[in-house]
Amino acid sequence: MQLSHRITHLLDGGSDGWEIFNRARAMIAAGTPVTELTIGEHDIRTDPSILAAMDASARAGHTGYASVPGTDALRDTIAARVEDRTGVTTTRDNVLVTTGGQAALFAAHMAVLDPGDRALFIDPYYATYPGTLRAAGARAEPIPTHSREGFQPTRSALMAACPGAASLLINTPNNPTGAVYAPGTTDAICEAVREHDLWLISDEVYDTQIWNGTHLSPRARPGMAERTLVIGSMSKSHAMTGSRVGWVIGPAEAISHMINLSTDTTYGVPGFVQDAALFALEEGAPLEDKIAAPFRRRRALTEARLASQNTIRMIPADGAMYVMLDIRTTGLSGDAFASALLENHHIAVMPGESFGHSAAGHVRVAMTTDDDSYDQALATLVSFAQELAARSS
Ligand SMILES: Cc1ncc(COP(=O)(O)O)c(C=O)c1O
Repeated sequence: MQLSHRITHLLDGGSDGWEIFNRARAMIAAGTPVTELTIGEHDIRTDPSILAAMDASARAGHTGYASVPGTDALRDTIAARVEDRTGVTTTRDNVLVTTGGQAALFAAHMAVLDPGDRALFIDPYYATYPGTLRAAGARAEPIPTHSREGFQPTRSALMAACPGAASLLINTPNNPTGAVYAPGTTDAICEAVREHDLWLISDEVYDTQIWNGTHLSPRARPGMAERTLVIGSMSKSHAMTGSRVGWVIGPAEAISHMINLSTDTTYGVPGFVQDAALFALEEGAPLEDKIAAPFRRRRALTEARLASQNTIRMIPADGAMYVMLDIRTTGLSGDAFASALLENHHIAVMPGESFGHSAAGHVRVAMTTDDDSYDQALATLVSFAQELAARSS
């Protein structure tokens, strides 16, 4: 039987970029210890107080179908949080609760794209982006960025790509690069989408992980609220990756249509999980800061570890739980370097190539193991790169 073109072409003939991760997991399953610096998941588990709230809600009977757009209390709390942090008036009608940020990305693109539309995204990119855009029937088109410009998209690249496109997907703080978009980058993005009448999908799931600078939500810029869909999530901010709670913020009309999509796909998020998310959000910034703190520390460790060498160049990592390292002096691609590091030293990092052409010759290191193992793995990575660079010169 024939499968649909849509489903068989989600990866467009490419790979899903997770080979190193899968190899590392297979090694671990076979009993070989591996330091895993691959997936964007905390080395701590969800806080016991959040689990207690989840348990209490389930035991109180919140185990039936929950309200599809999200409970009123959770939508109100998300709306208040967004309004408080951005100054943009936001009510529950602007909020759809989804099964994680990933379902929010899918719903947002389903809402603004018709089959064949051009959907832009910034390269390097989070690995699911092209497939998500294709799932909505669009033509996924990357806008390249450059390592030497800190992987920030330039005004000229944006202005060249936007004419005729339907949407632009951005992500700041950025996975995989750790970039936080500068005010000038945000200005250029807003100008380009306004001038060429695009929807902007702004993935802000790392908004609580800022090490330098400020998180700027483009929805707060003039004329942007009506054309912007913001993606949020509890995964990174509250170490709730497995709970699958995220949201889309957008104009009420767009949200009302996305609610229909949720009815026809997930039928909402479990009520006891939403109550746990509500509890976590009500804890406010102190809990978010506690969860972000290890990454702030490890980023500083990375800077210290790389300070006295010039084989590896670190892209300014101003936010998120990753650092992107330029390893081109080794003469290897990111793929080959990551593969050799895994083989020789049992350390798993992601090749830059997994995140698009712009990150070729780089590796992404997720700062997701305890400080000592992290620092030791970095020291090994650096001396391995130095050996390779010495051999290749
Ligand atoms: C940039 C970005 N957006 C969205 C997601 C999706 O996160 P979740 O579905 O867990 O909310 C991730 C997960 O790693 C991510 O890195």
